Amino acid sequence: MSGARIAIIDGGYRSSEIEADGAAAVGATLEVRQCRDEEDVADFAHDAVAILVRQSLVSRRVIERLGRCRVIARYGTGVDNVDLEAATEHGIVVANVVGFGTHEVAEHAIALLLAGARRIVSHDRAVREGAWDIGPADPISRITGSTLGLLGFGAIARAVQRKLKGFEMRTLVHDPFVDDELVRAAGAEPVGLDELLRESDLLSLHAPLDGATYHLIDARALALLKPSAVLVNTARGGLIDTAALVAALQEGSIAAAGLDVHEQEPLPLGHPIRACERAILLDHAGWYSEQSTRALQQGAIDAVVAVLQARRPVSVVNPGVYARGLRVADSGEG
Ligand SMILES: NC(=O)c1ccc[n+]([C@@H]2O[C@H](COP(=O)([O-])OP(=O)(O)OC[C@H]3O[C@@H](n4cnc5c(N)ncnc54)[C@H](O)[C@@H]3O)[C@@H](O)[C@H]2O)c1
Repeated sequence: MSGARIAIIDGGYRSSEIEADGAAAVGATLEVRQCRDEEDVADFAHDAVAILVRQSLVSRRVIERLGRCRVIARYGTGVDNVDLEAATEHGIVVANVVGFGTHEVAEHAIALLLAGARRIVSHDRAVREGAWDIGPADPISRITGSTLGLLGFGAIARAVQRKLKGFEMRTLVHDPFVDDELVRAAGAEPVGLDELLRESDLLSLHAPLDGATYHLIDARALALLKPSAVLVNTARGGLIDTAALVAALQEGSIAAAGLDVHEQEPLPLGHPIRACERAILLDHAGWYSEQSTRALQQGAIDAVVAVLQARRPVSVVNPGVYARGLRVADSGEG
């Protein structure tokens, strides 16, 4: 495949050695550019046989100008920045990487649950400001033996439950799409949404954002939580009505919230949640570790190599492209 180019259109990892090794394995060269806009993407990648993308928009307009592209691999799971219909029409496989950060997000959720329950961040701030003996004025409940609530029981929620086993918690699960028997077999109890909200001491959100989950945690839901409850969101910001959460935290109707994800990202500077002392605010880094980053890079280039070697990648987002017909390599690929 001499002469073939693989284009990373918006790299940002410390190195692209992993991708370069993959490119070398198929006799292609790897080029990296931080493309500014669609025009830039189209200029840079017009003759590439494969594209790797993080956040840039790979729109129909761009895809129509990718004359040799056979695969678009997304560094991550969501592919809302790629026009799947246009890719399929042009015989381009779109692949994503799944599961690369399951341990990391679960560990992040647990870190937020424990930090919220033990008031680690607010007490750290208070101590720095000269306070001492904070405990009695700010009652803390024992975590061991308390009730863990999981909204969603997919890969990350199950990892949270497994990793927290040593805390001997009762675990409640609300997931309309997971069989009750499977929940019970994991040592948890399947419950309705309201019971989950009423009973949980620590509530962790792990459902996807869609029409049914948008603002699922609204003022009504927050009012059902215990005043001692800790709410953690590492899923998607849109699951929570943030204005209602700000009100709940200000009124003290819940004890703490740990948020890795936000309705608006980056979180705007003047956002009222920033003033809530009982909110722990992070920057959507739940997925990140050095290991998960490597797994992400490896997964993306593996998908590219698979297509260029006429194999099917592990996770294809537009499987219809196989029925429609794949773009074939042209003679320029040597
Ligand atoms: N913070 C981060 O960096 C980060 C990284 C990866 C994923 N995520 C988020 O974490 C979420 C969970 O990831 P996962 O790998 O466990 O996904 P998954 O697909 O394995 O699990 C999602 C679960 O949610 C359930 N679900 C769907 N609709 C529901 C509803 N209305 N109520 C309750 N449960 C519902 C599904 O049945 C499924 O079991 C993802 O949707 C993603 O948005 C965040």
